[in-house]
Amino acid sequence: MTTTPARNLGLFAQLLDPAHRADPYPLYHRIREHGPVRLGGAPVVVLSSYQDCATVLRDKASSVERHYASIPLGPTPVHDLAGDLAGELTGIAPMLFRDNPDHARLRRLVAATFTPAVVRRMEPRITAIADAALDRAAERGQLDIVADLAGPLPVTVICELLGVPLDDEPLIRGWSTGLARALDPVSATATTGRPDPAALVSDNNALHDYFEQLVRHRRTRPGDDLVSALIVAEDSGQALSHDELITTCALLLIAGHETTVNLISNTVLALLSHRLHRQILRVAPPFVTSVVEESLRYDPPVQLVPRIAREAIQLPDITIAAGDFIVMLLAAANRDPAVFADPDRFDPARANRHLAFGLGQHFCLGAPLARLEATVAINCFARRVIDPRLVSDPPSYREHVTLRGPAAMPVTFASIASANAA
Ligand code: HEM
Repeated sequence: MTTTPARNLGLFAQLLDPAHRADPYPLYHRIREHGPVRLGGAPVVVLSSYQDCATVLRDKASSVERHYASIPLGPTPVHDLAGDLAGELTGIAPMLFRDNPDHARLRRLVAATFTPAVVRRMEPRITAIADAALDRAAERGQLDIVADLAGPLPVTVICELLGVPLDDEPLIRGWSTGLARALDPVSATATTGRPDPAALVSDNNALHDYFEQLVRHRRTRPGDDLVSALIVAEDSGQALSHDELITTCALLLIAGHETTVNLISNTVLALLSHRLHRQILRVAPPFVTSVVEESLRYDPPVQLVPRIAREAIQLPDITIAAGDFIVMLLAAANRDPAVFADPDRFDPARANRHLAFGLGQHFCLGAPLARLEATVAINCFARRVIDPRLVSDPPSYREHVTLRGPAAMPVTFASIASANAA
């Protein structure tokens, strides 16, 4: 369908508008119905169909390195803050922002350490953390899914995995939440809601300095944690450099803080608003796995991912030129009716090949951990929280666009059963 550049820009600007944060899906449908769009005549292309996103995610010509952009991104309709600030940030880019061969080398070293077996061993500990969170809520007689369960669970797990003292967590959480906003595309014309660049630089550099010290400490006093394992990780005679170690730890920590919280919250929200909670109690674990997969499709914690075209990429309805900035709306692709029948229906029984964890070389390295944490959290919640009801549907949302999720989600309940009784 043909649309004017100004109209395309208007549609995209609405996506960044906080007014659409609670339910951006009607807007995603409208954007996808227009087909791939170029924004305001600028070298910025927005893709929203499943096929276009999957093709570009797999295409070797699509890069995550910002220097391939044909013009500085600041003056374009989409302001890419992370890219703009790159020169001011201490440290080097982590694997998420590196192409091959560096990307493959870094990923192999980390994947050898952060394995599915390491994750599986965490299950009893993850269950204990979820149960302890519900015990505290039972004592208080109040439960906010985000503040009491979905937030603390992944944060505690990633801190314990990395060997970060939990006492330091509030400090780290502040930096991490700030940095998550650097992933948001910002409408260059927006006057409100823009992240403060100086704050982003300061958060990044504080997190870098924190891990600089932790890595130095672990070199002399190794522990039973991922940082210590990454220090000695080796692949064909290669190891992570000191700077690579620091940015890898920071990436894992931010990913652990900012994503799974939304998966757990979104899944509880979907269950309660679709009244599936009782069903879960009857059929239990295998069904919970499908519920989590459907939640990843239906309301993905990472709504969009960016790329730069290193060379021209030909799609059925658009030619992406070398140097174009590409925004892929994974959340729109996950509701593409060409792939998912009745896409606005929350249906855990459907065959699910969603794009919530991306695709291709940058496919989420933390997917096994995220899936396990969410499955454990939902199982504990379903077993123990009796007659839960949402106080507000929809709940209030965080201002983040890329990592979208509820800010708070209080629920009322009849009681919270003890972990042993449930
Ligand atoms: C529900 C939770 C999560 C979701 C939805 C999610 C989603 C994603 C997505 C979409 C990507 C690809 C980004 C791109 O292609 O540009 C990605 C990459 C990545 N994720 Fe996750 N993630 C989650 C949890 C985690 C966790 C818990 C960790 C680790 C603690 C993690 C670590 C990573 C890493 C290291 C990458 C970069 C992989 C690479 O560049 O090769 N993620 N994630």
